[in-house]
Amino acid sequence: MTISLSGTALAAAIRAGITGTPARLAIVTATTDEATAWYVRSISAAAAKVGISCEVVETKDVAGTLSELGNDIHGIILATPVPGEVPAAEFAMGIPPTKDVDGANPVSLGRLAAGLPAFAPATAEAVVRLLEHHHIEIAGRRAMIVGRSTVVGKPLAHLLLNRHATVTVAHSRTPDLAAVTREADILIAAAGRAGLIGPDHVRPGAVVIDVGTNPTADGGLVGDVDPAVADRAGALSPVPGGVGPVTTALLLSHTVDAARTAAH
Ligand SMILES: NC(=O)c1ccc[n+]([C@@H]2O[C@H](COP(=O)([O-])OP(=O)(O)OC[C@H]3O[C@@H](n4cnc5c(N)ncnc54)[C@H](OP(=O)(O)O)[C@@H]3O)[C@@H](O)[C@H]2O)c1
Repeated sequence: MTISLSGTALAAAIRAGITGTPARLAIVTATTDEATAWYVRSISAAAAKVGISCEVVETKDVAGTLSELGNDIHGIILATPVPGEVPAAEFAMGIPPTKDVDGANPVSLGRLAAGLPAFAPATAEAVVRLLEHHHIEIAGRRAMIVGRSTVVGKPLAHLLLNRHATVTVAHSRTPDLAAVTREADILIAAAGRAGLIGPDHVRPGAVVIDVGTNPTADGGLVGDVDPAVADRAGALSPVPGGVGPVTTALLLSHTVDAARTAAH
């Protein structure tokens, strides 16, 4: 029987550790994109529930706004996409690494790659925390990530390498994706393509983590993994209810960590 790798209990445990430290989070947003607005609202609501003050700053001048945020702000999230030609990572250079609670500053990614302390992007860290929570061995296993974005695939590759997995990263130019993914003991789908990973992509008994969040026409949410994979995988994370809640909890927990560090 396939094990469901739920993230709800882990998210609750992470949230339970967020008490007693006053913390302030700022979310800087420059887009009118509805998916982003939904994401910003859900983080604000989650922050309010654990007593973190969350300020949403809407701006057309991202660089200027980031440079003007006060010392009383402990954590900063830059909502994406950022309109225009300049990559979001370029703007994120303006987030001090000590406040970079979603690991968006390329300095944070560099520190992660070098094995130095840094905030990892919350989604990438959520994948690792979900595996650990469900006692899935990472060291020595073949991990395959489908997706090479700066926010998910690349940092996740470093987090898994740091935990001694043998890591492969696939992307849209990878020929015969199924032949590559079938080699994986741990398969992580982070492509943003509903149903991309079918049963043929999965070795029987493999662990499959679904990072994808794809909106459906009826207002729902589906992952990158076809539900039929449940008959083949040894363990599969649900969407919603897998990586998502852990990601949100980690953003809040990083903010409290940043506030505690600032207080010392
Ligand atoms: N649960 C959460 O908390 C959370 C948080 C963040 C993101 N997400 C979700 O995770 C997914 C990925 O997000 P992202 O920001 O990393 O997306 P992204 O920036 O669009 O990157 C997608 C990656 O997938 C690759 N890809 C696309 N189509 C592919 C295909 N047919 N075969 C193989 N690889 C393919 C792309 O390859 P190329 O590089 O070659 O284009 C790219 O590397 C989205 O569904 C997003 O909504 C979830």
